Amino acid sequence: MNNIILIGFMGVGKGSVAREVAKNSTYMTIDTDDLIESMENKKVKEIFEVDGEVYFRSLEKSVALWLEKSVKNTLISTGGGFYKQKNLKKIGTVVLLDSPFDEIIKRIKKHPNAARKLKKRPLLSDLKAAKKLYEQRRPEYLKLSDIVINVTKKSANDCSKELLKKVKKYA
Ligand code: S3P
Repeated sequence: MNNIILIGFMGVGKGSVAREVAKNSTYMTIDTDDLIESMENKKVKEIFEVDGEVYFRSLEKSVALWLEKSVKNTLISTGGGFYKQKNLKKIGTVVLLDSPFDEIIKRIKKHPNAARKLKKRPLLSDLKAAKKLYEQRRPEYLKLSDIVINVTKKSANDCSKELLKKVKKYA
C-alpha cells in the first residue's frame, strides 16, 4: 500500500503539513474531508448540521474502505475523528501530528482566517467540550500511530521533512 495516513486533532496542521510533503516529495495528497465534501456536494459543517454526525461518520467509513482497497503511494490527510475507522492501520503508515491543546488553539487563533477556521469545525465551537474531546482522543491517537511528530512551534515545512525522514523506515 505504502500510503502515509496523517492523523491528529482538529487544527493541528494536517493540511499544511500534507501540502509541504507534496512539495518536498513525489507523494500526491488527498484529504478525507475533501473527498466527503465532493461526494455530498456539501461542506462538512453543513453535513453535521443537516444530516448529523452519525451520517458524517458513515461517510468516513465509506472513504476508509475505498482507501484500503484502491489507494496506493499517497499521502492521506484525515479529519480529526477519522482515526476511529477500524481499518485505519490497513490503509497505511499512521503518522500522528501531536501538540498540546492550548498550542493548537493558539495556532488557529493567529491564522489570518482564524474566524473561518473555527466556524467550519462544528466540534470546536465549544472550547471546553473540545478540550475534553482532545483529552479523550490523545491516548487513542498515540496508541494507533507508527510515527509521532511533535509539531509545536515548528514550521509545516520542518514537520514535512521530519515526516519524510521517519517514514523511510516503513517504505
Ligand atoms: C472532526 C474534524 C474535522 C472534520 C469534522 C470532524 C473531528 O476535520 O472531519 O469536523 O471529529 O475531529 P479537521 O481535523 O481537519 O478539522
